[in-house]
Amino acid sequence: MNASATGTVPVASVSGTLALIGDVIVPTLAKGPIIRRRRVVGIAERHDLVGRAVRRMQRLHQHYGDGPLLMRIPARKQAVLLAAADVRRVLDESPEPFAADSSEKRAALSHFNPDTVLISRGEDRIDRRRFNEAVLDTGCPMHRLAERFRTVVEEEAGAVLARARRGNTLDWEVFGDAWFCVVRRVVLGDAARDDRAFTRLHERLRAYANLAFMQPIRHELRDRFLARLNQYLDDPEPESLAAIMARTPTTPRTAPDHQPPHWMFAADPAGMTTFRTLALLAAHPEHEERARAEAAGDDPTLPFLRRCVLESLRLWPTTPMLLRQSRSDTQWDTGVLPADTGILIYAPFFHRDDRHLPFAHRFAPEVWEPGGAAEAWPFVPFSAGPVRCPGEDLVLLLTSSMLAALLRGGRYREQQPTRIAASTRMPSTLDNYTLRFSVDTAARHAA
Ligand code: HEM
Repeated sequence: MNASATGTVPVASVSGTLALIGDVIVPTLAKGPIIRRRRVVGIAERHDLVGRAVRRMQRLHQHYGDGPLLMRIPARKQAVLLAAADVRRVLDESPEPFAADSSEKRAALSHFNPDTVLISRGEDRIDRRRFNEAVLDTGCPMHRLAERFRTVVEEEAGAVLARARRGNTLDWEVFGDAWFCVVRRVVLGDAARDDRAFTRLHERLRAYANLAFMQPIRHELRDRFLARLNQYLDDPEPESLAAIMARTPTTPRTAPDHQPPHWMFAADPAGMTTFRTLALLAAHPEHEERARAEAAGDDPTLPFLRRCVLESLRLWPTTPMLLRQSRSDTQWDTGVLPADTGILIYAPFFHRDDRHLPFAHRFAPEVWEPGGAAEAWPFVPFSAGPVRCPGEDLVLLLTSSMLAALLRGGRYREQQPTRIAASTRMPSTLDNYTLRFSVDTAARHAA
C-alpha cells in the first residue's frame, strides 16, 4: 500500500483493479443500468454474479483497509468506497464537493431527458430539485393524491387478478403490463392508460441510454417522445402528477417536461421490486400472514408492507451503483482523493456484507423498524443525503398499495419454490422476469 495521510489515498494494484472491473463493474453494466437486459438478469441469478462481486469487495477491503481505494486506470481517476462511514460522508456531502452528475450519468440520461435534475448542477439543480419535491410531495408518506392513486392501483390490481384467474398463474408479462398502466395513469392521467406505444418509445430511448457514450443521441426519437409527453402535459388531467406540475411554479431553469421521463423510467424498478416482494412474502408464511392482516386492516400507510418493499430493495437494490464525481481535492484518514475523481458506491456490498450483518442474506423486514439496523448502517436503495430519491415516498405508497390489493385478492405460491425459500439464503439476484406464481384467487380472505 502506498498511502499516507498527506499522500494520495491507497491505490489498487493492476490485478486488484482488473478484478474489481471484471467482478463488479462489468456484470453490473451488462445487466443494463437504464433498462434491464432480461437475459443477463437471468444469467446473473444463475451464476451468483452479485454474490461474487460482494466477495470481491470484501477481499479488497481486507487487503486495502477502509479506503477510499483508487483504481489503477490509465487516463481516468476512479475510486471505490469500502467503509460505511465514507458512504455517509459522500452522500451527505453531495452535490458539493461530491457531484451527482457524473460523466457516465450525463452520457446515459441525455438520451431521453438531458435536463433532468439528476444530471443538473448549481442553480439549475436547486430549482429542478425544488420542482421535483413539490410535485412528488417528498417527505410525505401519503401523497396529496394518495386516495386517487390507491384507487388506480386497486383497479389495475383487479385487472391483474382477472387475468391471473383465467390460468391460475401470474407472471411478469401480466404484472409488468398492469404496473405501467398504473405509472401512466399516475403521472399523465387516465387518457394515457393504454398508451403502450409511448412506453415502448421510452424503452427504445432507454435502450440507447444503456450504451451511454457508445451511442449517438437519437434526436428525432427523443423529440418525438417529448412531443408526445407534452401533449399530455399541455392538457393535464385532474388528479394526476401532470395536474400538480401545471400548478407548481416554474422558472426559466426548471425544464418541467424533462422531469417526468425520469419518474417513468424510475418507476420500472419499483414494479420489479413489487413483484420480488410478492415472491418474498410467498416464501415466508409468517411475514405473509402479517402482511395479509395489514392489507385487510384500515391503516392506509401499510407500514409493514413498506418495510417489506425496503427489505426487498436491500436484498436486491435496483440502483446498485451510486456514482459521484469529486469537484475538489478531499482529505481522508488515509490521504487525499484528487479533484475530478469518479466515486463508486457499490450498494450490494454494504447491503449484504455478512462480516457485519448477521441477517445479510435473509429476508429481515424488521431491520427497517424504528431503531432497527437500517438506522446504523448504510442501506442506500434510495441513496441518502441531499440527492436522495425524491420519489421514495410515492414509490412506497404505490408498491405497498399494489401488494395489499394483490394479497386481498388471492394467494400466491412461486412455481419454482427452490429459487427462494425461507430456509435458505436469498439469491444474490432475483430475476423478476421469470418469476411465476400459482394463484388461488378463490382464497379471498381476511387475516
Ligand atoms: C424502486 C424505485 C426507485 C428506486 C430504488 C430509486 C432510487 C433512486 C436513487 C438511488 C437515486 C439517487 C441516485 C444517486 O444518489 O445518484 C434516485 C434519484 C432520483 N429518483 Fe428515484 N428511485 C426509484 C423510483 C423513483 C420514482 C418512481 C421517482 C419519481 C416519481 C423517482 C425520482 C427520482 C429523482 C427525480 C431522482 C434525482 C434526484 C436528484 O438528483 O436530486 N425515483 N432514485
